[in-house]
Amino acid sequence: MCGIVGILGNQSVTSIIMEALRRLEYRGYDSAGIAVLNNGVLSRRRAAGKLDNLAKLLKMDPINGNLGIGHTRWATHGAPTENNAHPHMTDRVAVVHNGIIENHIALRKELTELGQEFKSETDSETIVQLVDYYLKQGHKHQEAAFMALKRLEGAYAIAMIFTSNDNLMIGARHGAPLVVGFGDNEMFLGSDSLAIAPLTTKVAYMADGIWTVIKREGAFFYDMEGKEVSCPIQKTALITGTIGKNGYRHYMEKELHEHPIVIGQTLRRFVNPATHQINLPYLPFKITALKRGIITACGSAYYAGYIGRYWLEEYARLPIDIDIASEMRYRDPPIEGEGMGLVISQSGETADTLAALRNLKKNNQKIISILNNEHSTIARESDVVLGTDAGVEIAVASTKAFTAQLTVLACLTLTIAKVKHKITAEHRDQCLSALLDLPSRVAEVLQLKEKIQEIAKFIANAQSVIYLGRGIMYPVAMEGALKLKEISYIHADAYAAGEMKHGPIALIDHTVPIISVIPSGFLFEKTLSNLQEAKARGGHIIVFTDQRGAESLSPIADKVIILPTVHSFVSPILYTVPVQMLAYEAAITKGTDVDQPRNLAKSVTVE
Ligand code: G6P
Repeated sequence: MCGIVGILGNQSVTSIIMEALRRLEYRGYDSAGIAVLNNGVLSRRRAAGKLDNLAKLLKMDPINGNLGIGHTRWATHGAPTENNAHPHMTDRVAVVHNGIIENHIALRKELTELGQEFKSETDSETIVQLVDYYLKQGHKHQEAAFMALKRLEGAYAIAMIFTSNDNLMIGARHGAPLVVGFGDNEMFLGSDSLAIAPLTTKVAYMADGIWTVIKREGAFFYDMEGKEVSCPIQKTALITGTIGKNGYRHYMEKELHEHPIVIGQTLRRFVNPATHQINLPYLPFKITALKRGIITACGSAYYAGYIGRYWLEEYARLPIDIDIASEMRYRDPPIEGEGMGLVISQSGETADTLAALRNLKKNNQKIISILNNEHSTIARESDVVLGTDAGVEIAVASTKAFTAQLTVLACLTLTIAKVKHKITAEHRDQCLSALLDLPSRVAEVLQLKEKIQEIAKFIANAQSVIYLGRGIMYPVAMEGALKLKEISYIHADAYAAGEMKHGPIALIDHTVPIISVIPSGFLFEKTLSNLQEAKARGGHIIVFTDQRGAESLSPIADKVIILPTVHSFVSPILYTVPVQMLAYEAAITKGTDVDQPRNLAKSVTVE
């Protein structure tokens, strides 16, 4: 989940690496560093904390060179100090690494005994010390790198440069993504294509277990036996300039405001609004014979999957099992025959989700993945990719990618429901019309900012907040609680409203705000009763509901926010928007770092 970049260029690469690191900072921001080769000598600058600290350091104490590597770190082994920041280097070699070297303790011991002097607490430094040792033994650069790579266990994406060699950069990939970019007599390496998107449109997504020797003339790819392999070059869109906030205070605010457009774009991809035809790519199983599905994902994507479960069960009558990917990867469920393995991920690189996908594949499941990054590892390992058109999401807390995932899940549900004859044409039509109308309704919700700000001011003082939902609104409550805790650092938990009486109700007193997502319709009365039980115990009740719901809720709720009335099929998408907005406004009130909350990273490529 660190970000790495390497450039073998024709001019000073320092500022270009810094720009690339800005695009990678979502992957980690505990520290940053850069190393360049100048007149055959490696020089390096590193700084703890955000990239801005490194930028300041470089301003005071610049380094320049035509070959360089850079890193943004999300700390795993070793505190987020300057000393543990990458690049790690010796007099001979400099390395940046994303991943975890699992045999680092044994390697450190062995290398220390051989006289190598470690300077950091990181697992990553074993790579540089290994290469350095082999170089001292007289091996050539490429050979020493290959020998070192063969000793590594765990996950890695690596970029490596050497003293006295201004036309060589080594890259390697094993369980963490790495992309090679081809320029005009210059070459690039990056953790993702976004990092190098403004520099070239020609990229090669390296397969797992491949390493590469990069020279200005091009890149050569090898497997771990040293056999040359091919790695196809693909065209990507050229992104110019930096991805800006368009006048918003934070990326998260900008991305929240992109909900309507993202839902609209994703719908446009799959739905013909004139004919109401949903056109998904060819699914890798016979829908009529499909007996069950298993959904897996992490974080917000898991909650999207949870909503998908309710939809697929209710509308398509398809039994669904769901689990978080860090559990699913180690589960050994008895699964009969070929079923649908549904994997959801914004980045397509989340390590647990990828491992869960592999587990499902091993169990003969056909994999459909819902992804925002269609060039990702999960994309490559899936049978079919259903893309979300959310665009680049920079804020660590996912917002627009979540509603885009739900939009795709809604289309998938209606497709399976239709083919299996589980929905009438009329009912399907109503659902689809509600979906197509959703961008406008969501735009109306965005207008509720001031009302949501008032509530945010209230909950910003709370020690703990409870979110309640029932049925398909339960995962919406979970998404609300996750957003609040991750960006405002207020403890929050979500409960299925009916479960309150079995324990969580003991938490309630006048200091604990209770936030409920409760549209009128099915389960409204049930949730209302649960809220009354909470009110009776002194709870401060805040509800998101519609006009009809507000009539019954007003007498008991301390705050009522009225959302547009929509078809129940799309309620979970609509009700997600205000709970995400509330988390954002609470974080603003508390003055936390909204886009880069402490301890988190956007793309979690370690276990
Ligand atoms: C991290 C992010 C979350 C995200 C989760 C899954 O924890 O902070 O916002 O939901 O990873 O990421 P993915 O890229 O697989 O959707």
